Amino acid sequence: MITNPKNRQNNLTGDLDQSRMPYLESLLAEKEAYHISFHMPGHKMNMKPHPMLEQYWGGNLHPADVVEINGIIDYLHAPKGKLLEAQQLAAQAYGADHTFFLINGSTVGNMGAIMSASGAGQKVMMPRACHRSVYGGLVLSGAMPVYIPPDYHPQVGSSLAVSADVVRRLFTEHDNIAAVHITSPNYYGVLSDTATISQIAHEHGALMLVDEAHGSHLAFHDGLPKSATQLGADMVIQSTHKTQGALTQASMLHVIGDRVNVARVAQVMALLQSSSPNSLLLASLDAARMQMATEGYDLLSRVLELSYYAREQIADIDGLWCYGDDLIGHNGIFAYDPTKLVIGVRGIGQTGYAVSDALRHTYGIDVEFADLRQIICSITIGDDDHTINRLISALRQIAQDKRTVDNDPEVPPPAELPKIAISPRDAYFATSRPVPLAQSVGEISAENIIPYPPGIPLVVPGEILTQELLDYLAYLRHKGSGVVGVEDKSLTTLRIVIQ
Ligand SMILES: Cc1ncc(COP(=O)(O)O)c(C=O)c1O
Repeated sequence: MITNPKNRQNNLTGDLDQSRMPYLESLLAEKEAYHISFHMPGHKMNMKPHPMLEQYWGGNLHPADVVEINGIIDYLHAPKGKLLEAQQLAAQAYGADHTFFLINGSTVGNMGAIMSASGAGQKVMMPRACHRSVYGGLVLSGAMPVYIPPDYHPQVGSSLAVSADVVRRLFTEHDNIAAVHITSPNYYGVLSDTATISQIAHEHGALMLVDEAHGSHLAFHDGLPKSATQLGADMVIQSTHKTQGALTQASMLHVIGDRVNVARVAQVMALLQSSSPNSLLLASLDAARMQMATEGYDLLSRVLELSYYAREQIADIDGLWCYGDDLIGHNGIFAYDPTKLVIGVRGIGQTGYAVSDALRHTYGIDVEFADLRQIICSITIGDDDHTINRLISALRQIAQDKRTVDNDPEVPPPAELPKIAISPRDAYFATSRPVPLAQSVGEISAENIIPYPPGIPLVVPGEILTQELLDYLAYLRHKGSGVVGVEDKSLTTLRIVIQ
């Protein structure tokens, strides 16, 4: 049974024995039992890795790279035994009815959720500011997007949340919306009012899908905003590797309630994911869930303590701004995750990029993300006093070395989203040709143009290119932003749809 009664605070842990790791236990038993292998993988679990690989791994991982064979190890795409049990434990711990383990991150979770919820001829309501995998989901499903326009926060300079009122209005303007997809929390740790938006979606017969890639820890502490699994969402996608201890790529897709056809989701995930799932990734999900369910409350209490301490110290540094409660109630912002430190650096006359560079090159500290105005540092169960104090003292020193404030007037993004001519899917598969960038005005883009950071698409395939968009792109590049999604990285040319 559960060892820490405090974990019951969120009423999620139920009656299963969360201290067990059934899938990991089965892998360990198979690893210990010596067999001669005439099956894959080619290293046969006994080949010595290259010394450099072993040094990099910190040991020999080959014996642990166990695969499903002869039905002994359970199989991701048809789980019947220990992996099924592990997923059931996860469902209960995270507050879901059904959980799918993912081996290709929330990327495949978003694509799979959209493919399961929508198809050609239908629409998905979504904010423009979402991960590229959501756009990938549209290309795969054929659905048309209905964009919730970005609501740029004046101080942060990015769109942070989705307003329930705008969602309500868009339902009166569009029909045939199969699903609403929101990202909450987003990269900046900001949450929308998922409970109200879920209710609106359901009133209109649409499914509620939440990209909670940055919030897999939320369900385990009542000092954190609630997880979307507890707020009426039908599908919730979490990168367990981002905010818990799972290996990179290891993620989960949770299904809640009975609006979603779970068998269909299983088929979609089998279509999108490798037929040779990596047991190291899957085992790390079993262990991450066990850790959160049994000691998550205590671990997260410490994370919250460190986060609030860091927030106070950083707020005291002249010129830095670490936002929190001051944002709530504006621009659709319902809550924020205190473990994400979003540190505004404009007051010390530097860009987020410059501070991020200084932290890395002078102080050996890597941040999660930087944009023009801020750096973002993610605090997790992997942090301690030492890491937090190093960050604070480095920021103190950087802030002392003030520079001249960049007084260049900031150019706002175009007020209107580009006009959609054809669906992302049709544009993606259309015949296209490259044209010099300047000659692309008035044409239909065949490519994504995604300034990175912050990673919000300026143009999506199927949209009409305008001079205003190209001018804004030139401005962002001048400010040091990279551009992803385009074939010609120099942006001399752009691919347009041949009409
Ligand atoms: C909001 C959001 N959704 C989804 C993803 C994709 O997650 P993963 O890296 O687990 O594939 C990311 C990745 O950064 C993200 O920021």
